[in-house]
Amino acid sequence: MDKANANGETVNELLEAQAHVWNHIFSFINSMSLKCAVDLGIPDIIHNHGKPMTVSELVAALPTLNPTKARNIYRLMRILVHSGFFAQQKLSHGDGVQEDSYVLTNASRLLLKDNPLSLTPFLKFELDPILTKPWDFLGVWFQNNDSTSFYTAHGKTYWDYADHDQKLGHLFNEGMASDARLVSSVLIDKCKGSFEGLDSLVDVGGGTGTVGKAIADAFPHLECTVLDLPHVVAGLQDGGNLKYVGGDMFEDVPVADAVLLKWILHAWNDDECLKILKRCKEAISKQEKGVMIKKKVMIIDMVVMDNEKVNEENSKTFETQLFMDMLMLTAATGRQRREEEWAKLFCAAGFSDYKIFPLLGLRSLIEVYP
Ligand SMILES: C[S@@+](CC[C@H](N)C(=O)[O-])C[C@H]1O[C@@H](n2cnc3c(N)ncnc32)[C@H](O)[C@@H]1O
Repeated sequence: MDKANANGETVNELLEAQAHVWNHIFSFINSMSLKCAVDLGIPDIIHNHGKPMTVSELVAALPTLNPTKARNIYRLMRILVHSGFFAQQKLSHGDGVQEDSYVLTNASRLLLKDNPLSLTPFLKFELDPILTKPWDFLGVWFQNNDSTSFYTAHGKTYWDYADHDQKLGHLFNEGMASDARLVSSVLIDKCKGSFEGLDSLVDVGGGTGTVGKAIADAFPHLECTVLDLPHVVAGLQDGGNLKYVGGDMFEDVPVADAVLLKWILHAWNDDECLKILKRCKEAISKQEKGVMIKKKVMIIDMVVMDNEKVNEENSKTFETQLFMDMLMLTAATGRQRREEEWAKLFCAAGFSDYKIFPLLGLRSLIEVYP
């Protein structure tokens, strides 16, 4: 019989609670083990092997591995098999002996260097110590007046740091571009209709133009402009139906039929978002030609699920949305928003209607109409 303690918990409940706490204390090990595998190039090594790879073959193929560490590779692989980055297969030798071997999964294929949709640059950015350090300061930040725990950790805002630190600026631009490649391929495939009837589009905060270029290539009749901070677009070459403009989205947004805001508003607080949205509304309202109906702001961002809709099937998606919300708390002044929070913002910025297209996995395309 399982006896209850002074709190009314049974011993099993106590141990379950302990396991839950331990699991969360050590959750970061999932991220760091994955980063280690990518640093060692393991996904590419298994891919280049061309067939299931045994641990001894993997060890032999790791050029910089210290021999005294070789026997620990299977331990790294074991946790990454558990977290779904590799799968194990039995490899039969001629003599009837079977050996465990590793193959890639869909998730690790997304970490291959040569995969055009590789997420490795995003991983390298998000798990760089510059970005992980602010988590150590979150508790301090809750008790001080700093805008972000990034500021508490580094003594400057994220944007100031990125402006002056080439390494961070590079990691950031590469990380964003890698996400942009994946999203634009899905956007162009699944949301073609959203671009119909448009003659011009400006990608506000479009970085180095990965999405802008993909849209310009997919819709050659569309005049595409990428607006970003002057130092981000400096030296980028205009070409065909794509051009770059250096500027400040809080001051002015170039005139166009449609404005795209991919992964912009989540980084800013409501007052800042209002300013950006008002500039976007002005940009699409100034356009002389074209009928009103086709003008819009196209937002790619998260619409955070309502708690009541979370179930076993979607709970990982919800958790990832919450991770991203917490990320905005440490690095920027923004947040991930629920539908009603978005609706309030659109209304305050003077828009009349919006429509959510939940077609981009964790994120949605939100069209907002003047
Ligand atoms: C999270 S990134 C998103 C980049 C791109 N839209 C994407 O999703 O790949 C935010 C972008 O906003 C740009 N940005 C920040 N402040 C800006 C401003 N005041 N005016 C224009 N762009 C700005 C940054 O340089 C960066 O490229």
